[in-house]
Amino acid sequence: MHRVAITGADGMLGQDIVRMLTETDVEITQLDINNVDITEKNALIEVISDISPHVIINCAAYTNVDACESNRGTAFSVNAKGAGNVAAAAQKNHAMIIHTSTDYIFDGSKKGPYNE
Ligand SMILES: NC(=O)c1ccc[n+]([C@@H]2O[C@H](COP(=O)([O-])OP(=O)(O)OC[C@H]3O[C@@H](n4cnc5c(N)ncnc54)[C@H](OP(=O)(O)O)[C@@H]3O)[C@@H](O)[C@H]2O)c1
Repeated sequence: MHRVAITGADGMLGQDIVRMLTETDVEITQLDINNVDITEKNALIEVISDISPHVIINCAAYTNVDACESNRGTAFSVNAKGAGNVAAAAQKNHAMIIHTSTDYIFDGSKKGPYNE
């Protein structure tokens, strides 16, 4: 059975994905800031290694756009470094990572996929 870990699982996107995956035969582990803070790299890697997921779906984010403008340090810590920590945990466990972006950055006007 495929194991899927969802970070930020309590959020809007996370809950939608949980609902969607509940109807499939994958084993879901829901993680949120109460279980593990994605800014804490070592703790995150430890938690992810215990799960040993095939796929990590990162839905954890600091999403209050106005607060991001005034708290740039927190925004960078969660949305940049935190996302990097999830990627590091994925790499360590040979897991695929799925990370969503936002239309605040990618407005959909490009007619085709983006390069990494
Ligand atoms: N919703 C949409 O329509 C939409 C559309 C396009 C893209 N996206 C993208 O999808 C992602 C999630 O969006 P969302 O709308 O689901 O946001 P959301 O409802 O705010 O969910 C984000 C979740 O991440 C958690 N979180 C925050 N900091 C964390 C940390 N350091 N470690 C672990 N978890 C943390 C939040 O917990 P707290 O609530 O306790 O802070 C919350 O449960 C974002 O990257 C967003 O840009 C969303």
